[in-house]
Amino acid sequence: RLLFNKFPGKRPPVYEGIPYVGGLIKFSKGPWKLLHDGYAKFGEVFTVPVAHKRVTFLIGPDVSPHFFKAGDDEMSQSEVYDFNVPTFGPGVVFDVEQKVRTEQFRMFTEALTKNRLKAYVPQFNKEAEEYFAKWGDEGIIDFKEEFSKLVTLTAARTLLGREVREQLFEQVADLLHGLDEGMVPISVFFPYLPIPVHRKRDRCRKELSNIFGKVIRHRRESGHREEDVLQQFIDARYQNVNGGRALTEEEITGLLIAVLFAGQHTSSITTSWTGIFMAANKEKAWLPAVEEQKAIVAKHGTNLSFEALSDMELLHRNITEALRMHPPLLLVMRYAKKPFSVTASDGKTYVIPKGDIVAASPNFSHMLPQIFKNPEKYDPDRFAPPREEQNRPYSFIGFGAGRHACIGQNFAYLQIKSIWSVLLRNFEFELLDPVPDADYESMVIGPKSCRVKFNRRKLL
Ligand code: HEM
Repeated sequence: RLLFNKFPGKRPPVYEGIPYVGGLIKFSKGPWKLLHDGYAKFGEVFTVPVAHKRVTFLIGPDVSPHFFKAGDDEMSQSEVYDFNVPTFGPGVVFDVEQKVRTEQFRMFTEALTKNRLKAYVPQFNKEAEEYFAKWGDEGIIDFKEEFSKLVTLTAARTLLGREVREQLFEQVADLLHGLDEGMVPISVFFPYLPIPVHRKRDRCRKELSNIFGKVIRHRRESGHREEDVLQQFIDARYQNVNGGRALTEEEITGLLIAVLFAGQHTSSITTSWTGIFMAANKEKAWLPAVEEQKAIVAKHGTNLSFEALSDMELLHRNITEALRMHPPLLLVMRYAKKPFSVTASDGKTYVIPKGDIVAASPNFSHMLPQIFKNPEKYDPDRFAPPREEQNRPYSFIGFGAGRHACIGQNFAYLQIKSIWSVLLRNFEFELLDPVPDADYESMVIGPKSCRVKFNRRKLL
C-alpha cells in the first residue's frame, strides 16, 4: 500500500504469450522485433518476461527522464552490464563498487579533456592518411570492413599506446578479436557458460594482461612517456577510494579493454553509416560536405587540426544524422533498485517495480515520427540550428544521455571527422548496392554488406 501511495498508477502491460525459453531465444536473436511488436501493441511502456526476469521498455522522451537522470542507487548499471566482467577483467568497471567505478570513469574523462584530444588528433590523421594511401586509384570496398580495420588502428594508437600499435599490433588485434567473438547474445544472460567462444575469450584476456603488463612495467620503470590514454591511466591516482593509490597493471588493462569495447565498433559503424548516407545523398549531403572542406582549407590550411575539425558543422550534422538513423547500441539498460513511476504521452501513469530490468532503445526512439518528422528520411539539416526537434531532452539518445552519457563522444566525433575529411578531399564514392539494412542480430548493430566503388581524385 505504501508503494502505491507513493507511486500511484498501475504496472505496465505485460507482453504475454512469450514462453520462458521462447522469450530468451527471441531476445538472444536480437530484441528488435520484440520492441517493434510491443510498441505497436502497447505504446511507450511495456514489460516483456525474459527467462526468469522482467524487462520493461521505456520508449521515447516522455517516459525516459528518470531512466537517464536517476542516481545509481535507483537505476543501477552493474546488475545489467556485469556480463562484461569476464571480458573487461577483475577490479574494474562493473566488477567494482559504484564509487570505485565513478573514479575510474573520472580518470578516463581526464584522459579526454580538450588538451588531450588535441594531442590525439594528429594520430587520427596519420592513421587515416596512411591507411587510405594503401588503397589503389579505384576499386570496390565495403565501408564496414574498411573502417573496422582503420578504427582498430587509431584506437590502438590513441588508447592502447604506441608500443601496441607499432610492435605488437598483429598479436594484440588477434587477441582482441578473440574477446570480441566471446561476446555473443547468450553471453548477456550466461557470461560464464563453458562454450568454446567463452573459453577462447578467457585465454585471450589472460594473454592481453601479460602483454599490457609488460608495456606498463616498461613505461613505469624507464620513465618513458607517450601521448595516449594508456599514459593517462599510468599517471592517474584514485582520490577518495583505495587509499589514493595508482592503478594496478591489471586495472589499467581492464580499463583499456573497457574503453576499447565502448568506443571501437560504435565509432567504426557510425563512420560507415555516415559514408553510406553521404554517398547516397550526393546533392544534399556529399557536395555540401566537399564545399565545407574547401572553406575549411581556405580558413585553416590543409592541416586537419583540432580547430579545423571543430569547425566542420555540416560534417558534424551528417555524423549525428547517421547516428540518429542507425545508433549502434540497440538497448541501454538499467536495473530498478527502487520502484518509480512514469507517465506516458497519453497521460497514463505506470509503476515500474523494484527488480525490473529497464531498457531504453536509441534505435526505436529515433524512429518515432512524433519526435523526428519523416524519421526514415536522411536529413542532416534537422540538426541545423535552432534544432527544434532535438532541443527536447532525451529525444536524441545515440550517445545516451544524462548521468551516464557517453564519455567518448567528442573523441568519436573528432575521429570520424578526421577520417571523412581525408576521404572527402581525396576520393569520390558510388554505392553499387542500395543503402543496406541494419543487421539487428549482431551485438553492436551495423550495416549489412554494401559494395562501394571508389575513385581517387585529388579534390582538394
Ligand atoms: C557510454 C554510444 C563512442 C566510451 C555510452 C552510451 C552510449 C554510447 C549510448 C550510454 C550507455 C548507457 O547509458 O548505458 C556511443 C557511440 C559512439 C561512442 C554511438 C560512437 C559513435 C565512444 C568512444 C569511447 C566511449 C570512442 C571511448 C573512447 C564510453 C564510456 C561510456 C559510454 C566510457 C560509459 C559512461 C558511463 O556509464 O558513465 N556510449 N559511444 N564511447 N561511452 Fe560511448
